[in-house]
Amino acid sequence: MKKIIPNGLSASQLTGLVKKHGSPLFVISRSKLASNIRRFRSLLPRVEPFYAVKANPHPEILKVFHKEKSGFDIASQGEMETLRTLGVPTERMIFANTVKKSDVLKFACVNKINLMTFDSEYELDKIAEYAPGSRVVVRIKVTNVGSVVELSVKFGTEPADAIPLLIKAHRLGLKPAGVSFHVGSQCLQAENYIEALEVASIIFRDARLKQLPLELLDIGGGFPISHYNHEKDYFSEMAPMINREINRLIEPHIRIIAEPGRSLVGPACTLVLRVIGKSIRANKHWYYLDDGIYGTLSGLLFDHCKYQYNVLRKGRTQISTLAGPTCDGLDVISFTEELPELELNDLVYINNIGAYSLAHATNFNSLPKAKVVAVD
Ligand SMILES: Cc1ncc(COP(=O)(O)O)c(C=O)c1O
Repeated sequence: MKKIIPNGLSASQLTGLVKKHGSPLFVISRSKLASNIRRFRSLLPRVEPFYAVKANPHPEILKVFHKEKSGFDIASQGEMETLRTLGVPTERMIFANTVKKSDVLKFACVNKINLMTFDSEYELDKIAEYAPGSRVVVRIKVTNVGSVVELSVKFGTEPADAIPLLIKAHRLGLKPAGVSFHVGSQCLQAENYIEALEVASIIFRDARLKQLPLELLDIGGGFPISHYNHEKDYFSEMAPMINREINRLIEPHIRIIAEPGRSLVGPACTLVLRVIGKSIRANKHWYYLDDGIYGTLSGLLFDHCKYQYNVLRKGRTQISTLAGPTCDGLDVISFTEELPELELNDLVYINNIGAYSLAHATNFNSLPKAKVVAVD
């Protein structure tokens, strides 16, 4: 029977791709990217997705989302430049890094990228000086409980400070546009969104009472994916609750956007690795792969991520160790994988690895990064 890998590729397709392009190989599925953004829109119909480019800025990915008329959340001048090269109109961008360099603000202003988030009065002063007249969105601190990546310690102002900051923005000649939050990446609790929506709705009401009508709510990212075959579909379970609260709390004329990264790109990519070394250490099989923690598997560190390692070989399994190719002892991928005995040149593949993987891979030991191919 033909073995189908969950992202839609067959095992023989993967083997064929590696034969043609070599390994390590990062495979992007364009059709899966397109279906992910359509799924996002159908799960949250009132919310416009602005893809968080930082999750994976590869141009093949950006091109698909541009074709699907997505908006984009950008964090730097580099990301703005890439999108401009692809012809993305500036009104489809939000500069959602709360800490912006003054020269990058100038660049944004010259290029008419004028919607941006902030969470402190110092940032407001900077925006007013280098990007005058911008539309500003105050990012509030919200509960991140149960999210794999915590984002509320470093970012977000106390909700009680939101209105005074928006009033200050108005005084500085900026246009107070709305409120944003981020519930933490890979958020597994719908309650985080529900609480954040409640807090945001109170700020919207107070702003109206203070003659400061806001037009935009940005519900950030955090929408979770499954990394293992046995995991449930968290996002589709949470979506009805988020929709209900949006409809209950947020007036119909308010535009709602989100900044999904992981949920759009994670499930659309597969990494294929090859066993390049094997040994028995302390009575246990060790397999050395051609990519590791310093490369595409950097998400093990930076994204606190765990992956499912799949092999094509069958047979009795035993606990084994997978390690990366560099000379550093830190470069161990997993000490506890149940695997059949592998041989040199065998392939190991990882699905759902599109987000926060390639984006922070390095060339440590002067090893080349994984080659990227996009398939339909
Ligand atoms: C400001 C901002 N927006 C959006 C995202 C994307 O979040 P996620 O990948 O969880 O959807 C991040 C991730 O760190 C972020 O910092």
